[in-house]
Amino acid sequence: MTISFKDQVAIVTGAGGGLGRSHALMLAAHGAAVVINDFGGARDGSGGSTAAATAVVREITSAGGRAIADGGNVTSEADMQAMVDRTLEEFGRIDVLINNAGILRDKTFAKVTMEDFRAVVDVHLMGTTIASKAVWGVMREQNYGRILVTSSTSGTYGNFGQANYGAAKMALLGLMNTLHLEGSKYGIHVNAIVPTAATRMTGDMMTDEMLQILAPELVSPAAIWLVSRDAPSRTALLAGAGTVARLAIVESEGVCFAGKSLSPDDIAANFDRIADISALIEPTEGLRHVDRIIENARRANGKA
Ligand code: NAI
Repeated sequence: MTISFKDQVAIVTGAGGGLGRSHALMLAAHGAAVVINDFGGARDGSGGSTAAATAVVREITSAGGRAIADGGNVTSEADMQAMVDRTLEEFGRIDVLINNAGILRDKTFAKVTMEDFRAVVDVHLMGTTIASKAVWGVMREQNYGRILVTSSTSGTYGNFGQANYGAAKMALLGLMNTLHLEGSKYGIHVNAIVPTAATRMTGDMMTDEMLQILAPELVSPAAIWLVSRDAPSRTALLAGAGTVARLAIVESEGVCFAGKSLSPDDIAANFDRIADISALIEPTEGLRHVDRIIENARRANGKA
């Protein structure tokens, strides 16, 4: 086994079941001491108990690994700070944070209440932000860190009835992009996993065949690689059912109208060329897009 988390400490949020449990068990099997965070609520985020987290800790320690349970709520700054303090007390450092905790409150946009919309954004976007902020200073100081966010195809491509969830999940890619830029000089790499797995979240209506095809254990290898010592940064991997692919945010080459007529009618007349992604570009940061369009304009104006 080449990938090793020996002497490393990882926190996995929402690790009492589903994907988080699978990630935590795989991290522990690869040598990490693991903090199993889970506030143990229902699928919609209500309720709470540490029983699920404690059960996963037992699985790890009975296999000879090191783990502690944390019942903190990712939406609470005080809870996340307490989790970080306790992790440092118990294990002395924090190398990895896997932001995995999540809830669902599916409703069409016509029916969703702002309370249900906010609750979902709160757990996914703010929870990931709060947990990442709680470890950020520790990782900066030790000049090393690996942070994973958990996005979803519901955000990257859309899912009926999941405006709240999709918006929050797509926002996490935005968070990843900037944390990558700000973390890179401190050895902090920030990546995303875009999973598909049969868990409590995907419902109880799965056949045995589907449960096997969509086992969470088929997502965890990609997640674990993305938080390993040799991990890239600002990389989003789709993983599920044994397929692993890279998700890219790209732009078309586009049409430069600089120095020419540029009206709404010109956009309409050229829309097919504007939208054509046969020559796609994948900027490494927002400024690279700005550089490109300025360069286009200078060239069009005969100044490049
Ligand atoms: P799950 O419901 O089995 O696991 C989520 C865990 O997060 C639960 O154990 C829950 O108690 C915990 N949690 C919820 N709110 C929390 C909070 N405020 N603080 C601490 N813990 C909290 O669901 P699953 O499928 O394992 O989901 C894991 C992650 O993967 C989620 O972020 C989900 O949105 C994401 N995901 C899952 C997909 C799938 O196909 N299962 C698809 C795309 C994304």
